[in-house]
Amino acid sequence: MKDSEITVISVGPGDHDMITLRGLKAIEAQEMIIGMTDSVETFAKHKPHYIPKNMRADSIEFIKNCPAKKIGVLVSGDAGFFSLSRFITKEFENVKIIAGVSSMCAGFALIKKMWFSYRFISVHGRELLDECPSESTVILCDEVNSPDAIIKKFPQITEKFDFYILCDVSLPTEAVYTELKGSYGTSRIILVLEEKTA
Ligand SMILES: C[S@@+](CC[C@H](N)C(=O)[O-])C[C@H]1O[C@@H](n2cnc3c(N)ncnc32)[C@H](O)[C@@H]1O
Repeated sequence: MKDSEITVISVGPGDHDMITLRGLKAIEAQEMIIGMTDSVETFAKHKPHYIPKNMRADSIEFIKNCPAKKIGVLVSGDAGFFSLSRFITKEFENVKIIAGVSSMCAGFALIKKMWFSYRFISVHGRELLDECPSESTVILCDEVNSPDAIIKKFPQITEKFDFYILCDVSLPTEAVYTELKGSYGTSRIILVLEEKTA
């Protein structure tokens, strides 16, 4: 394989002012940027870029064939939290990761709660849960695997937990709901299940 340096750059939960200065500097240093439309539009449209259809499969293939020496991969939130970076580090050797603000951290700041005692699950682009959560849990959702789909499958959730639905955290369309809405108009959705106290 050619001798590329790959930098996975965490861009934060979405809005332009939630990326770190280090992330911005890293973008400037790249010859080629790979990222989903929103991230590229917000942070890197002035750089040569590639927007894959399927972030995981297409990005890895693109990197293998890209002649650029310095390739930056934009990931939402923080690279260490349910992101493509685990596949990139598995596939390539010369990889650096720039940390960022996870949507989860930004979401907890929004509802003024502490996240350290929660369990974390992602159903984004995956199967719905097999089992009902038994403890306070954060679930990364999307439009298909939505909070409504989860609570329809496990209606007991509403007895055991208070819940918060965090949408488009940090963006102008940011919203917090404590009731099901049916549709949220975004795939950026986090369901926070907080165990009820007696
Ligand atoms: C592939 S995961 C990436 C998570 C990311 N690495 C992070 O640290 O936030 C995508 C999921 O993150 C959540 N997400 C990302 N940005 C969000 C935002 N601004 N508001 C709410 N949820 C968001 C959604 O659950 C979305 O389906």
